[in-house]
Amino acid sequence: MSALPAELTVRDVRNVDLDAVAELERLSFPVPWKREFFASEVGAPHRFNRVVRTPDGRLAGYVFCAFAGGEVHVNKIAVDPSYRRRGIAHLLMQEVLDLSARVRAEEIYLEVRPSNDPARNFYSSLGFRDVGRRPQYYADGEDALVMSLFLPAPSPSP
Ligand SMILES: CC(C)(COP(=O)(O)OP(=O)(O)OC[C@H]1O[C@@H](n2cnc3c(N)ncnc32)[C@H](O)[C@@H]1OP(=O)(O)O)[C@@H](O)C(=O)NCCC(=O)NCCS
Repeated sequence: MSALPAELTVRDVRNVDLDAVAELERLSFPVPWKREFFASEVGAPHRFNRVVRTPDGRLAGYVFCAFAGGEVHVNKIAVDPSYRRRGIAHLLMQEVLDLSARVRAEEIYLEVRPSNDPARNFYSSLGFRDVGRRPQYYADGEDALVMSLFLPAPSPSP
């Protein structure tokens, strides 16, 4: 893995990010979410949506999550192809882990295509395990694997 670019900015997704998010989405997924779908997530309750920007303002990656009832659901994560294997998805998932601790979540889960070896390896490297399968989950008919990371119970307050 080559070094992360210096001075990356990680912050909440804003409307101004949506064109770049939709463009990276089209580069990254066979059936991409539409821009309007991302727009409806920005500012919605119980959401955690973050972007990574490079010092020259390029979008390097994003993560979109929803959380409720002790669970955090990762809806989307993607990294610009020219920045992959440099730890940016790891950085974004660290943000998700920090959120999970703040909201005292017990589990982080997500769906992934069985054919998506890079993503499955990535999640496995963080300790996610296969816990289920959703038949024909994706619009093109591919099943989804459900992967979960179970989190240690927070220590009781003194
Ligand atoms: C999956 C994805 C988000 C990973 O982003 P990334 O920034 O390249 O990942 P990182 O650099 O943080 O990788 C961390 C670890 O994950 C694993 N990993 C990541 N990409 C991998 C690949 N292509 N092949 C094998 N292992 C991989 C490795 O263990 C890696 O550590 P290493 O580089 O030290 O070996 C990126 O490939 C992507 O955007 N893919 C297209 C969108 C997508 O499929 N999203 C997930 C949908 S469920």
